[in-house]
Amino acid sequence: MPYYSKLGKIPSKRHIQFRRPDGGLYSEEVFGTEGFTGPTSTLYHIHPPTQVIGWKPLYSTKVEYVEREVMRMRHVKSAPLPPKGDPITGRVVLFGNKDVEMSVCVPVDAMKYHFKNAAADECIFIHFGKGTVFTQFGALKFGPKDYIVIPKGTIYRMDFDAVADGEAEPRFLVIESVNGSHILPPPRYMSKKTAQFLEHAPYCERDLRSPQLPLTFDKKGSYEVRIKSRDFVHGYTYRYHPLDCVGWDGCYYPYCFNIDDFSPIVGKHHMPPPTHQTFEAHNFVICSFCPRPLDFHPLAVVVPYNHSNLDSDEVLYYVEGNYKARRGIEVGSLSLHPQGIAHGPHPGTVEATLGVTHTNELAVMCDTFAPLFPTQAALDLDDLAYPQSWEEEPEAALTRLRAAATAATAAPTAKSNTRVATKKQPTKKKSAASKAKSSSTRAASANTW
Ligand SMILES: [Fe+2]
Repeated sequence: MPYYSKLGKIPSKRHIQFRRPDGGLYSEEVFGTEGFTGPTSTLYHIHPPTQVIGWKPLYSTKVEYVEREVMRMRHVKSAPLPPKGDPITGRVVLFGNKDVEMSVCVPVDAMKYHFKNAAADECIFIHFGKGTVFTQFGALKFGPKDYIVIPKGTIYRMDFDAVADGEAEPRFLVIESVNGSHILPPPRYMSKKTAQFLEHAPYCERDLRSPQLPLTFDKKGSYEVRIKSRDFVHGYTYRYHPLDCVGWDGCYYPYCFNIDDFSPIVGKHHMPPPTHQTFEAHNFVICSFCPRPLDFHPLAVVVPYNHSNLDSDEVLYYVEGNYKARRGIEVGSLSLHPQGIAHGPHPGTVEATLGVTHTNELAVMCDTFAPLFPTQAALDLDDLAYPQSWEEEPEAALTRLRAAATAATAAPTAKSNTRVATKKQPTKKKSAASKAKSSSTRAASANTW
C-alpha cells in the first residue's frame, strides 16, 4: 500500500535499541522491496525471525498450460468445482501466463500451518465466506466481496468461519503477480506529492481496511511456515510462532477493500474499462464492474460497443447478477476474450437494453498484456458452445431476451442484489429506444466488457 501506517509498539527511531519487558532486545526486521528502494515496512519481533530448526521440499506448484497455440473465446463454469484442500492447496489455476496466474478455490479444510508466497503478490477476491487472515502485520477480518491484497513475503493463515445455515460455502478467486511485480492502486489515482488518493479516484483511504489486533502470538514450539518460491513449496519449521511481532510501521502491508465500496464513475455515454480499474501490476490490471446507473444520453447505447482490445486478453469473473440474458453465463463463470478477435454484446442485446437505467451485475475483470493460456482444469470446465454463442439471428435473439426479461420480472432478484436496481426505473423518454419491459433483466445484460 503506498501510504504509511503502523500498529503496535515501535521505538522512536529506526535501528536503535528497543527492549522487551525482560530486558532483552526485540528483533528488528526491515521488510523491503525493489532492493530497499520500494515500499518497505519495519517489524519488531519478540524472537529473531531467522531461527529455523528444519526445512524440507514439499510439492511443486509449477503450472502446466495446454492449448497454448489455440486462440478462441472461452467460457469456464467454475461453479461445479468440487471442494478441495485448504485455502492454499485447494487453489485450482485456470488461466495464466508469465505475468499472472488466476485460480479459484473452494476450500474444505482448515490451514494447520502458515503460508508465505515469496514469489508473488496475491489479490484474493472473496466470493462467499467470511473469516480472518492472521498475518505478521495483524489480523484482517474479511467477508463476501472483499478484495484481500497480500503482498509478497507476508506470512499468513487464512481461517474461514463456520458456515451458518443458508450461507454459501467459502469460495474465492486468486490473482497472483507471478512476474514479481506488486499489485497496487493505479498511480493515476494517487497524488505524486503525498501518495494521497485524489478526488477523481473511485475509492480512497477510508475504504481500505488495514490490519488490526491481535498482532502478537508469543509461543514456543514447532511451527510450520510453507514458503512458495521457484514454483515449489518448502516447509520451514520455526522454534517460535511466526506471528510474534509487537509492532510495525511502513508502507508495505496487507489490506482489505470491499468491492461495494468502489464508487463507479458513470457518464453520459458508455465509459471504458479503465474507468473501473481497481488495481494494477506489471502487465495486468484488475477492474471492478459494479452495480450503477447507466449512461444518461437520451439515445445512449448502454451496453459496451464491440471492441478489439488489441493489446490485452480479458478475463471476467461473474460474481452476482441476473445472467439469463447472457448466453451460457452464470454466477462463478469466467469468460476469456483473447486479443486477436473482436468481441461485444450478444445478438439482440443492444436493442433489448435501450432505455435501461441501471445495471445490477457485479464482475471482476483481469486484463493481461500478454496472451493467457488455459490449464487442463479449465478445459475440464470448458463450455465449448461459447465461441459460437454470438451466432444467432437478431430477431430470434430479441425474442429470447424478452422472454428472459419476462421471467426475471416474475422471479425476485437474489437477496444480495436487492440494494440496487430491483425496482422498475422510470423510463426516460417514449421512443424507439424504450422497447423492453423489465429493467432488472435488461439491466443485467448491460455490464459486459
Ligand atoms: Fe472486452
